[in-house]
Amino acid sequence: MGLVDVSRLPQHVAIIMDGNGRWAQRRDKPRTAGHERGADAVRATMRAARRLGIPALTLYAFSEQNWDRPQAEINALVDLLCECLVSERNELVDNEIRLSAIGRLHKLPERAQSKLASLTSETQSFEGMTLTLALSYGGREELIDATRELARRARDGEIDPAQIDEAAMDALMPSMNVGPVDLLVRTGGEQRISNFILWGSAYAELYFTDELWPDFGANSLYSAIAAYQSRERRFGLVPDAEPLPANESADELERAI
Ligand code: FPP
Repeated sequence: MGLVDVSRLPQHVAIIMDGNGRWAQRRDKPRTAGHERGADAVRATMRAARRLGIPALTLYAFSEQNWDRPQAEINALVDLLCECLVSERNELVDNEIRLSAIGRLHKLPERAQSKLASLTSETQSFEGMTLTLALSYGGREELIDATRELARRARDGEIDPAQIDEAAMDALMPSMNVGPVDLLVRTGGEQRISNFILWGSAYAELYFTDELWPDFGANSLYSAIAAYQSRERRFGLVPDAEPLPANESADELERAI
């Protein structure tokens, strides 16, 4: 934890939790054993983030594309989610963690929807940290849903298409409820975003680690944050505190970006 400067924390950390299957395979266990250990890593990461004081943590727990996995694995993941929504209730309440969920939640089985609704409602007023579970989520799907809504409003004369701007998009993207992603972490060795938060990750710092998700924990999170803090975030601007000579040309300015 000594690596982390708590005065410069990322305000929104989003994680693609990858590698559960490989973790299990390497131990000759069924993939579901990897997901179970993955749930332990979720708990450890959530605790560490809360202790540090990170305001928002978003976890990619089930992608829109995961519906194409074998039905037995889908059932096991839904069962695990339902168990966690019961077993972690006290952890969330005691630590004032607000639970939220994004994605096409209506596609989840009723038993998962009702447990999710009950815990999100019970923890709604907490301000310690917002834990968002991305479930049946896809970044493209989120953009499609927002676009459909804007098109509907334009058709019905509620908005002028010329007035659609970033703020209008932000307001229609549930993943933006906790602000843009500052740090996007992916475990499991792959270096891609795989349809996770697209709009809100526009300026996120990306951090990829070979560690498999079940092995991830507090120290892994600290390392990711330390890497984030070692980077210079410019948001398309020139570096700080470097006054340009009066005759700096546009070309030179471009090269500095
Ligand atoms: C990716 O590993 C992980 C998932 C598809 C599911 C994530 C689920 C958990 C971490 C379990 C519990 C979470 C909650 C919120 C209760 P993979 O199966 O794609 O791994 P592989 O790439 O090694 O096959």
